[in-house]
Amino acid sequence: MDEKVYKLLNEQVNKEFYSAYLYLDFSNYYTEVGLDGFANWYKVQAQEERDHALLMMQFLSNNGEKVTLEAIDKPDVKYTSNMSALEKGLEHEKYVTSLINAIYDAANKVKDFRTLQFLDWFVKEQGEEEKNADDLIKKMQIFGKDAHGLYALNTELAARVYTAPSLVL
Ligand code: FEO
Repeated sequence: MDEKVYKLLNEQVNKEFYSAYLYLDFSNYYTEVGLDGFANWYKVQAQEERDHALLMMQFLSNNGEKVTLEAIDKPDVKYTSNMSALEKGLEHEKYVTSLINAIYDAANKVKDFRTLQFLDWFVKEQGEEEKNADDLIKKMQIFGKDAHGLYALNTELAARVYTAPSLVL
């Protein structure tokens, strides 16, 4: 595998584990303030992020590359309202999209078609994740203004269940 593509993919493993860490921090915040549905939603999201990391590790390993795990940064989010995590979530997903796009670009430059095909799933997934994060903000803006609406939204988010990723390696 091209050295730059390898390096970016190995770094992305860390970024995905960081995403899981960040979303667990969101989940802890919502647990503390009593919004157990929001806490559940982000706990499930953290599981998805862990899956993303595991898929990248498996892909590297399947291609004979060594996976090096680095230290995971401490989440550093200031929660000033129940909206803070939602906004930070969208901002973070946009950042992750830029990282995936950068790996795609590097793989494209060296005609690494196998990596491009692997990353196609992540490109689509990022589109979904940005939309989900944006939808949450919109719902919070509409329904989060009063206690009844917030209760209903919390109940909706409590129903999210984890499903394994559709990508199988
Ligand atoms: Fe692994 Fe939320 O992107």
